[in-house]
Amino acid sequence: MAVRHFLTLLDLSPAELLQVLARATEMKLDRSATRLAPGRVMAMIFEKSSTRTRVSFEAGMVQMGGHAMFLSPRDTQLGRGEPVEDSARVISSMVDIVMIRTFGHDIVERFAAASSVPVINGLTDSFHPCQLLADIQTYLEHRGPIQGKKVAWIGDGNNMCHSYINAARQFDFELVVACPEGYEPRADLVAANAGRVSIVRDPRDAARGAHLLATDVWASMGQEAEQARREKAFTGFRIDRSLLDIAASDAIYLHCLPAHRGEEISAELMDAPDTVIWDEAENRLHAQKALVEFLLGSS
Ligand code: CP
Ligand code: NVA
Repeated sequence: MAVRHFLTLLDLSPAELLQVLARATEMKLDRSATRLAPGRVMAMIFEKSSTRTRVSFEAGMVQMGGHAMFLSPRDTQLGRGEPVEDSARVISSMVDIVMIRTFGHDIVERFAAASSVPVINGLTDSFHPCQLLADIQTYLEHRGPIQGKKVAWIGDGNNMCHSYINAARQFDFELVVACPEGYEPRADLVAANAGRVSIVRDPRDAARGAHLLATDVWASMGQEAEQARREKAFTGFRIDRSLLDIAASDAIYLHCLPAHRGEEISAELMDAPDTVIWDEAENRLHAQKALVEFLLGSS
């Protein structure tokens, strides 16, 4: 059988994505539930920092009777210039599945092309599909199917926003992106989804009547030097009580974390007793376990 990868949400069909999410919710009820053969090994390559992604994949593999190995460029030959393709060929000859967090999306594509085992994108500059599995699982669990709903993305047209655009396509919802000029998501992605994705300049136009509000930091990993400029540009692009008040009466709000209270989201909403953001973070564990089961079962 051909090796299946998960580099973007488009690598699985809409039906397969729903199947993974249903399994994730099932696995949430029993952490030791697994269909994996024992002893499966995941190599996790992190070229950027991580808390949730590392902990969820590592805990998930152990809970399923396997093992996860943390590899950083600092202490592997990847950091000393060994070609991505050579690394992929060697690493994939020794493990069952690979997860990569890196900068350029082309790196995960090149790695996957040379890999004999499934490769999962744990975040690139362009996409963060694992987070979307958790986000959609969270919406499903708290509000039911997201099909036909209005989703508002407030903030940067970044990797998370790009994955929300792919999610709009795969899960069939409307996405309104509110961002300042110059911080739009990739034009080709917007154009390819013109029927369901639009861009507005006023966050209130996105939030009005929305069933889900989502946001992320104004400066992503690798953009630290732009922090001050971005703080200025994104003033007002914040999910707070006034925005939630004009959303649908049963709207929820999500943030992939880590969050900057008082910047892209108010402290009040981050710390609200009824926020589902912590459940969203936990769902990384369940959604990715279901994803690993799916990829290893179908490869
Ligand atoms: N949301 C997310 O991917 O978090 P980490 O950067 O901590 O992995
Ligand atoms: N857009 C953020 C997401 C972090 C999970 C970043 O790339 O840093």
